[in-house]
Amino acid sequence: MAATEFAPAKINLCLHVTGRRADGYHLLDSMVVFAGVGDRVSGTLADPPSLSVTGPMAAGLSGEGDNLVLRAARAMGLSAQIVLVKHLPVSSGIGGGSADAAAALRLLARLSGRSLPDAATVLALGADVPVCLEGRPVRMTGIGEGLAPLPALPDAWLVLANPGVAVSTPSIFRALARAENAPLPRDLPRLKTAAELAAFLMMQRNDLEPPAIALQPVIGRVKAQLSAQTGCLMARMSGSGATCFGLFADPLSASAAARAIRAAEPGWWVADAPLLQPQS
Ligand code: C5P
Repeated sequence: MAATEFAPAKINLCLHVTGRRADGYHLLDSMVVFAGVGDRVSGTLADPPSLSVTGPMAAGLSGEGDNLVLRAARAMGLSAQIVLVKHLPVSSGIGGGSADAAAALRLLARLSGRSLPDAATVLALGADVPVCLEGRPVRMTGIGEGLAPLPALPDAWLVLANPGVAVSTPSIFRALARAENAPLPRDLPRLKTAAELAAFLMMQRNDLEPPAIALQPVIGRVKAQLSAQTGCLMARMSGSGATCFGLFADPLSASAAARAIRAAEPGWWVADAPLLQPQS
């Protein structure tokens, strides 16, 4: 039996760095959502294990060794032959590798009938793997293990733009001026429209954005391009970058913005997609 799982892009609508643990990992407080654009992970249970990587963003990724998808299979004690279709840019702040690992875990659980690995095993695959396994809007705390559903969000559309520079997450955390920053408000409000969501988000931050822009100034240009588009309610970097998102209230202005940015910056990766709501 073969099956396929979708691995949607993970977006940090805001990301507050609130502390640093003794082991060097940072404590976060982040509103995380998923966008309707992503990779696809397909496969069957078979021996020997294999991974082939195809798709528009496959360049530079090998199907061998340390790929998170293979590590996910090993964590489940299963041998699988997997095809990863890569649509998301790698090392780009939208969870690519973590989203793929989470999709592989879901796929292997479905194919084998086994339950998912325990929380500590999932976290050991990567700090963003638990949130990607959740796959719905959540508030993420700790280093990524604290997950609580967000109050219902309004319908909204995201434009994602990446300038084609890969960013190393550890280097951005190292460049952070201070690790102790204010958390999100304790109780998050129920935001009823995309405009209300944007107004709330504008009072929040991504604490990794200033060090990322210092290391890769083009990220500032990505954010400015998004902000300049008609209908863009707010724009911010996701994760440790370099992908930035713009928030839109309707799909037509989001797709028009994506077209305009593609025309102005033909070398950039640009996508427009709905903010994925929880499946009821
Ligand atoms: O867990 P993951 O492999 O995704 O993390 C990559 C690196 O990012 C870590 O080695 C660490 O340097 C940094 N990181 C961090 N705090 C987090 C998540 C990641 O400092 N919460």
